[in-house]
Amino acid sequence: MKNWEQAWLAYQSNKEYGDKKIFRSYYTMENSNCCRKAEEEIRRSCKALFGTEPVKASHRGDAGIVLEKNPALETGEEGYRICVSDSQAVIQSTGDRGLLYGTFRLLLKASAGETVCGMDIMEKPKNPFRMLNMWDNIDGTIERGYAGRSFLYENGEIQITDRTADFARLLASAGINAIAINNVNVRDGAEWLITQRHREKLKVLARILGDYGVAMYLCIDFAAPMTIDGLPLSDPLDSRVRQWWKEKAGDLFGDIPNLGGFLVKADSEGRPGPFAYGRNHADGANMLAEAVRPYGGTIIWRCFVYNCQQDWRDETTDRAKAGYDNFAYLDGKFAENVILQIKNGPIDFQVREPVHPLFGRLSETNQILEVQAAQEYTGQQIDVCYLVPMWKEVLDFSTGCGKEQDTVADIISGRTFGQVRCGMAAVSNTGKDPNWTGHDLAGANLFGFGRLSWDPALGSEEIAREWTKLQITRDPQAVELITGILLRSREVYEKYTAPLGIGFMVNPSYHYGPNPEGYEYSPWGTYHRADHLAIGVDRSDAGTGYSEQYFEQNASVYRNKETCPENLLLFFHRLPYTYRLSSGKTLIQHVYDTHFEGYEDVEDMEREWLTLEGKIPQEIYERVKERFALQKKNSREWRDVINSFFYRKSMIADEKGRRLY
Ligand code: GCU
Repeated sequence: MKNWEQAWLAYQSNKEYGDKKIFRSYYTMENSNCCRKAEEEIRRSCKALFGTEPVKASHRGDAGIVLEKNPALETGEEGYRICVSDSQAVIQSTGDRGLLYGTFRLLLKASAGETVCGMDIMEKPKNPFRMLNMWDNIDGTIERGYAGRSFLYENGEIQITDRTADFARLLASAGINAIAINNVNVRDGAEWLITQRHREKLKVLARILGDYGVAMYLCIDFAAPMTIDGLPLSDPLDSRVRQWWKEKAGDLFGDIPNLGGFLVKADSEGRPGPFAYGRNHADGANMLAEAVRPYGGTIIWRCFVYNCQQDWRDETTDRAKAGYDNFAYLDGKFAENVILQIKNGPIDFQVREPVHPLFGRLSETNQILEVQAAQEYTGQQIDVCYLVPMWKEVLDFSTGCGKEQDTVADIISGRTFGQVRCGMAAVSNTGKDPNWTGHDLAGANLFGFGRLSWDPALGSEEIAREWTKLQITRDPQAVELITGILLRSREVYEKYTAPLGIGFMVNPSYHYGPNPEGYEYSPWGTYHRADHLAIGVDRSDAGTGYSEQYFEQNASVYRNKETCPENLLLFFHRLPYTYRLSSGKTLIQHVYDTHFEGYEDVEDMEREWLTLEGKIPQEIYERVKERFALQKKNSREWRDVINSFFYRKSMIADEKGRRLY
């Protein structure tokens, strides 16, 4: 197997490594599965990195690496202390998972070529839940998958292959501790994952994941009592339905004790839910919560609920408001083993959106922030787009909820309101492609999500640099260059696509490439309402009132066009093309300029990439080179379609006289 087929666990050979002696042998008295996996990883990494085969020492004093539990430490189950002298690394934790995480931290340091001697750190995750959502379908396709087919399923069956354990290793090494293994849109047979039909393989999968400290969750169909057993209804308050779920949970948890619970998309984009029976989301979630409670199970319930059958002529309904409207009033009504999962923005993973206004409003409800590593609207793993900077903006956002610790990071860590079931989830960007993520540089998003959800205080740059060293090269110049590309990639993508927070303007259904009116006269609720004078939706108090869903600190900023951040101007306001931005430029000139620039930036990034030939693994070089060629084509398309659209609507020429078509 090629190194790069292990993503950031490539462990690229480094025979010159200065602290090699630490990795000569290891010692442990622990024999949990997690610990065994840690030992395995030490052996595997040393072989790849140094060509050595570390032995298991029989005395602690002789060992290079010591793994031991220490109940006196305050690491928690997942945290660890790593203390490295000149000849020995001691990894301690109160829990087995902590020992595994600590081992990975040490090994990744070495793999990045960094010195470990003298290291003395104690780390614990800031977020209890660090979860991946697979949108894999049981037929082997992946909803919004851009890295090949699923490695979890084929032809309606769960697949257990070498990839299964390799994936679990990748997750644990990035600090991810939970995974929902099937698409939130449960259909085409995936309903049956909770029945005996798939039980044996499900047990194996749960065990493989569990060995790496990863808890498995299943996405369920809210109407399963009807689909599976022909019950006449799935009303959450009906006693037969409640009983059905209790039995189902008993059966599942009986076979798979380490099952985490269920993730639910209900009353959203055609999925069944409690609304059909006049019930609300708390009724639905609590019914399931009751069923899994005896087994310590958790229900994760998504807040992505809106009317996708809107009449585009109706200007009073605003999709952005829907999440808040459906959930804010239910605060305090959810069982303690329910978590609400909230997308980072109110619409749908656009390259630029404001932070979801539910953050800060739910003081008595557990909550998880959902981001999308799959690049559905951000280049589909053809265009490079490093998303960690965007996620950090969300995490750093001050909600103004009246508590001292009021950022999204504070809230989802549980600090703000004293919650314990909270954290982050990402829609996975993986598939069967040998490099896991299609675009090699998209590996930084998966790794970055893990690292960031472990510690939101980590910097975008340090994560990018660490990932580059692990997955591509330790060559310092190349690391600088690749880190530089990653760090500006999102801004570049934003420049050549939909401007100033307006969103969408993509081709309907598959969401790649420009189509300014693709969703304009559709039922999906994502309109920009451009005419010959102006563009944008007024979401201020004078308009749809969306801005008023924020606490005053932010509402006052968003409701006025003078104070609204310019990159969100067209999200919140309807403005004439001649509106002057703070730079003195008109809005339309800004659109023209950024679109020309965005394309040129792609040319620059490509030019830089081409200088890497011979300095990084050839296959990675070639693959990314091909993607840059495609990105160039895409960005040119976007540039010309968007500019021409704005020109044809406004009939205002480019000040610089460039061709707009
Ligand atoms: C987006 C995406 C869908 C997905 C949905 C969700 O709308 O396009 O494919 O099902 O998000 O998050 O549920």
